[in-house]
Amino acid sequence: MAFNPVTQILILLSLMPSTYDVFLSFRGEDTRRNFTDHLYKALSREGIPTFRDDDGIRRGENIESEINKAIQETKLSIIVFSKKYASSRWCLDELAMIMERRTVGHIVFPVFYDVDPSEVGTQTGRYGEEFAKHEIHFKDRVEGWRKALKEVAYMEGMVLEDGYESKFIESIVKEIADKLNFSLPHAPPSSLPLSAALRPPSYFLGLLREWRRSFFQTSSLFLFFLSPL
Ligand SMILES: *[C@@H]1O[C@H](CO)[C@@H](O)[C@H](O)[C@H]1NC(C)=O
Ligand SMILES: *[C@@H]1O[C@H](CO)[C@@H](O)[C@H](O)[C@H]1NC(C)=O
Repeated sequence: MAFNPVTQILILLSLMPSTYDVFLSFRGEDTRRNFTDHLYKALSREGIPTFRDDDGIRRGENIESEINKAIQETKLSIIVFSKKYASSRWCLDELAMIMERRTVGHIVFPVFYDVDPSEVGTQTGRYGEEFAKHEIHFKDRVEGWRKALKEVAYMEGMVLEDGYESKFIESIVKEIADKLNFSLPHAPPSSLPLSAALRPPSYFLGLLREWRRSFFQTSSLFLFFLSPL
């Protein structure tokens, strides 16, 4: 069976390994559509391959080992602490897994979005309320979660204060690029066609991955291309 050229390219693309540098942990309900989405886009634009895990759209039994694998394959985790982060046991489990990886050199970068790091570290305020509930339902896990939160709250990270969100995202991306030894292009004006040549190869890989991801989500289109000419 012969495939048309478009199909051949698609098959090659689907065989390209997906490797990520950054694992992005966040509370879907709080920031899926706004902050985390903007952060994810900004990282992708700079060619930093990022895996985002949405606690709100989890399915399947072995999700825990899948997540663990994804964390293991990345070098750095960004954790977006938002108001309801602590209400999700998935988020808390994920945080505990991430903190465990620090012993083997995994970099952890907390972002405090509209929450005070001390509220996170001492589990007071909203975090305190959620933990009061967890004490009842997840008695055996709470201790580990508290320990992880206490540790992460005092690590180097970024706190959104009164500033503008876009600037905040810009500085996060810069920090992450530094930590990963990524050399960001020195902001050539994007209207200049020449600027493309100044981009690091990872930038194009990032674009390719992003394109592939959105493409394969539309699987009916994929089936259409798969039918030989
Ligand atoms: C972000 O979106 C969530 C719902 O998707 C909403 O509850 C929240 O208020 C939004 N945050 C901001 C800063 O607009
Ligand atoms: C970045 O470079 C420094 C110094 O060369 C090195 O110690 C560090 O491990 C590198 N970080 C990553 C994530 O590769």
